[in-house]
Amino acid sequence: MPEHSRRNVLKSGGAAAAAVMAPLPDGPRPVTAPHQVRQAAQPKAVTDLTLEVNGERHRLEGVEARVTLLDALRERAGLTGAKKGCDRGECGACTVLADGRRIKACLTLAVMQDGRSITTVEGLARGERLHPVQEAFIRRDAFQCGICTPGQIMSAVACIEEGHTGSEDEIREWMSGNLCRCSCYPNIVDAVADAAKAVR
Ligand code: FES
Ligand code: FES
Repeated sequence: MPEHSRRNVLKSGGAAAAAVMAPLPDGPRPVTAPHQVRQAAQPKAVTDLTLEVNGERHRLEGVEARVTLLDALRERAGLTGAKKGCDRGECGACTVLADGRRIKACLTLAVMQDGRSITTVEGLARGERLHPVQEAFIRRDAFQCGICTPGQIMSAVACIEEGHTGSEDEIREWMSGNLCRCSCYPNIVDAVADAAKAVR
């Protein structure tokens, strides 16, 4: 059993220090894990952009390049109609129209929509008069909690415009990107079919 004398401790400490300071032998170098690397402070990429939403121009200043259209709408333009369900393109709660085509606002960057015409659920009604799709959703009781409803309605508007409402199966197929956790699908399909007849 070695004696833990001051002399021994100093000797072993000195040996360890010598090992640390010794030059690395040739061969593979130790790998430093990413979390151990101190990142140099990177300047954030920010830009100013103009979103045209529901016919109104919204000038957004100092928007980081990584900001999604959904976050820009909800947090910068104050339009909270488009909902954040999954935030990764799976549920469709964030569906809006860009130049008339439906897109998932959580999957596109705000800077990519600069200058395009965006329509959200807030832009459908004309004053007190609801859009036929909105009326049909109410008449058919096509929602429960309502979290998916703005996305369902925007998708239905485009689905009708695209002409994909020839049958119940066709509506189900072309509305399949919009999920409803409350399982209101039969009522949603009925509402879309009703609205398609109303706008013809
Ligand atoms: S929040 Fe965008 S698809 Fe779910
Ligand atoms: S009404 Fe609740 S998720 Fe569709």
